[in-house]
Amino acid sequence: MTAGPAAGARPAARAAGPGAAPAAAPEELATPLLDAATARGRAFLGSRFAILGGAMTWVSERNLVSAISNAGGFGVIACGAMPPALLAEEIAATRARTDRPFGVNLITLHPELPDLIAVCAEARVSHVVLAGGLPPGPAIAAVKDSGARLLAFAPNLAVARKLLRAGADALIIEGSEAGGHIGPVSLAVLAQEILPALPEAVIFAAGGIGRGTAIAALVQMGASGVQLGTRFAATVESIAHPRFKEAFRRAPARDAVASVQLDPRLPVIPVRALRNAGTEAFLAKQREMVERLERGEVSLEAAQLEIEHYWAGALRRAVIEGDVEHGSVMAGQSVGMVTAEEPVADVIAALVTEAEAALARPAGAASGA
Ligand SMILES: Cc1cc2nc3c(=O)[nH]c(=O)nc-3n(C[C@H](O)[C@H](O)[C@H](O)COP(=O)(O)O)c2cc1C
Repeated sequence: MTAGPAAGARPAARAAGPGAAPAAAPEELATPLLDAATARGRAFLGSRFAILGGAMTWVSERNLVSAISNAGGFGVIACGAMPPALLAEEIAATRARTDRPFGVNLITLHPELPDLIAVCAEARVSHVVLAGGLPPGPAIAAVKDSGARLLAFAPNLAVARKLLRAGADALIIEGSEAGGHIGPVSLAVLAQEILPALPEAVIFAAGGIGRGTAIAALVQMGASGVQLGTRFAATVESIAHPRFKEAFRRAPARDAVASVQLDPRLPVIPVRALRNAGTEAFLAKQREMVERLERGEVSLEAAQLEIEHYWAGALRRAVIEGDVEHGSVMAGQSVGMVTAEEPVADVIAALVTEAEAALARPAGAASGA
C-alpha cells in the first residue's frame, strides 16, 4: 500500500483504439468453476468477479476505477493525501461513470481521516479499505457506523485475528512482491500461514499476481478473491503518463526492487518501485546523511527527516509528469507480465479465462500458459 500526495488536475484517459475488438461483457464470460470458488468474495464485493483493482495513489481515480468495475472487477479509489472535498468529487465522478460497486481506500495516517470517513459515509460508499498500518479503533467504528463494509490489510496471522475481532469484514493479505509500500513476507508464505487458519474469513490475496493461473492457485488455497495493482496501472484507461506506462511495458520482474536502508539509525520505509536514477540518488543521499551524522554536522532527527522526505511528491512526478528517471515508478514484480497497453476489460477477461482453465485442468496437468 502507498500513501501519496493530493490529487490535482488530471489528464483524460485515452479511449481504446478504433480497431480494438470490444471485450466480452463480464456477464458473458462463462467461468463456473471460478465463480464457485470465489462465491464468498463475489457476494462480499457485489461484483461479477472477485478481483479488486488495488488502490494506487494518483493512478486509481475515476477513469481506471470505473473501468475496472464496469469490466466486472471491483475498482477502488486511492484517496492518498487528497483532502476531503477532492475525495467527494472523485467519488461522485466515479459514480457518474459506473453503476457497479466500487470502494475507497483511505490511508490511516491521513491527518483528516475522520473527515474522509465522513465523506464516504455521506456518499454511501459501500466498501472502505483502511490501509497504512493497523487502523485505529475510532476509524473502524466510524466506518462500521456508516454501514460500509470494512477491509483491512493483515501482515500476519496474529494481526489478521485481531482485525477480525475489531470488526474488519474482510482482509487483504499482500505479499512483498507487490508494488508500492510493502511488508517483509511473500504472498506464498502469507497465504499458507493465514488462509487455512481462518477458513470462515473473507480474504483477498495480493502481490505478484499476473496471470489467472495464480488466481486459481490462490482460491484453491482458500482465498475468496484477489487484488491486483501493477497489471492495471498500464492499461488503456489508466491516466498514468505514457512514459510511466512504457516503463512498465519494458521492465522485467527483477527491476521492481524494494528500497534499501543503509543505516539502522535512518529508517527507510520499504517501497517496491522500478530501479532508476532516483533509486541510485536515494542511496547516495543516505550515504551522505550517514557521513554527516558521523561527523556531527547534522542531528539524528534532521537526518531522519531528510531521508523520510526524500521521496515526497515522487510518485506524482512519475505517474502524472512522466519523469520515470527521478520519480518513484512504484511497481510490483508482476510488472514483467505487463507487455502491452491493453483495455482493462481485456486484462480481466484474460485473467478469469486463464483461472477457469486452470481450475478445470486435472491436478498435475501442465498449463501451457
Ligand atoms: C503505483 C502504485 C501505487 C499504490 N498505491 C497504493 C495506495 O495508495 N494504497 C494502498 O493500499 N495500496 C497501494 N498500492 C498497492 C496496490 O493497491 C496493490 O495492493 C498492489 O499493487 C498489489 O500487488 P501487485 O502490484 O503485484 O499487483 C500501490 C501500488 C502501486 C503499483
